[in-house]
Amino acid sequence: MIDEHAGTNPADPRASEAATMLPVYPQLPFVPERGAACDILTSDGRRILDLYGGHAVAALGYGHPALIDAIKQQAETLLFQSNAVALEIRARAAEKLLGVAPEGLERVFFVNSGAEANENALRMACVATGRHKILAVVHGFHGRTAAAGAVTWGAEKWYGFPEKPFAVDFIPRNDCTAAEQMIDESVAGVIVEPVQGVAGAFDLSEEFLRTIRDKTAAEGALLIADEVQSGIGRCGRFFAIQAHGLEPDILTSAKALGGGVPCGAVLATGAIASHFGNGDLGTTFGGGPLAAAAIVAVIEAIESEQLLDNVLAREAEIRARCCIGPVTAIQGMGLLLGLVCDRPAVEVRNALLDHDILTGTSSDPKVLRILAPLVLESHHVEQLAATLRSLGSQA
Ligand SMILES: Cc1ncc(COP(=O)(O)O)c(C=O)c1O
Repeated sequence: MIDEHAGTNPADPRASEAATMLPVYPQLPFVPERGAACDILTSDGRRILDLYGGHAVAALGYGHPALIDAIKQQAETLLFQSNAVALEIRARAAEKLLGVAPEGLERVFFVNSGAEANENALRMACVATGRHKILAVVHGFHGRTAAAGAVTWGAEKWYGFPEKPFAVDFIPRNDCTAAEQMIDESVAGVIVEPVQGVAGAFDLSEEFLRTIRDKTAAEGALLIADEVQSGIGRCGRFFAIQAHGLEPDILTSAKALGGGVPCGAVLATGAIASHFGNGDLGTTFGGGPLAAAAIVAVIEAIESEQLLDNVLAREAEIRARCCIGPVTAIQGMGLLLGLVCDRPAVEVRNALLDHDILTGTSSDPKVLRILAPLVLESHHVEQLAATLRSLGSQA
């Protein structure tokens, strides 16, 4: 569906996109021209506070000097080389990423997106176990490619492939008994988002995640943590599963990983990595030097600017100040938060946007999503709280 606000002026990118691109994205009614820290500056002179971050990508906001410098320097030095050669910057990115990952993850395979990361992770689970059944969790989202889409809840509505590549079943959320029963010796792996992002920042219980961890270990199945949305500091730890002290066998990352430079990664234990040799996995762009430089810069900025602490501080403020106006409850973790609303979340999203605050909806019609940059400041939370208050409550 094309945005009804799209201009008819051929210079307006909304009009030219409508004429040239597949019409698969409903679009928001503004045209960004520049980004500055947590703000988007639009073609018609608006300054919009971005609490959505381009689908959770803009971890450092816009124009972060260290990230921009790293990208510029790398582009000038060596824009691209493939995995046919070793690169110092790729080795640094791998070391950095493994250095902040949960214990036990010892090897990285770099890719380009979240779906590609999950596609490879699922394949690795099938190869490493020799099994062909994957369990996922009700309401989970893992991407739109063949394997990632197959483990996404509700994908029947849009899954365009004639059949799924392996057997799939879904565990009800937070149902430890079902998890115990469903994970058996036929299961290759269980893929789970510790905080279900698209579903509205629904944080799965520690008991549920621990049950999955323990039962997969007992049955020789693998735990795949999909941290494409929840990872890279968004939940106040480098990865959300670290908040529960759990160690997955495979972890996937993308979105914020490059702070805006497209990239993804699959991290695996040494035992899983030992099943793979020359030519078993591959990608042209994954692990390219530009992406690697961005990964190093993002992780270093999170560390040097204590952004994990900042995320936890802003989360506490949002929880204390923003359960107000249309918001009746807050779920999620860190800056992956779901504001449960007393009316359709899309109405609240539109009303906030009218007041120059960008938020996101979710697959839960009542839940508004906050995916703010990790550099968010207290005054931004105040702005959100005041605007929510002005919208009033319908309760
Ligand atoms: C948890 C999760 N996994 C995977 C994906 C797919 O990532 P991408 O759009 O980069 O393919 C997403 C995208 O929203 C996601 O939220």
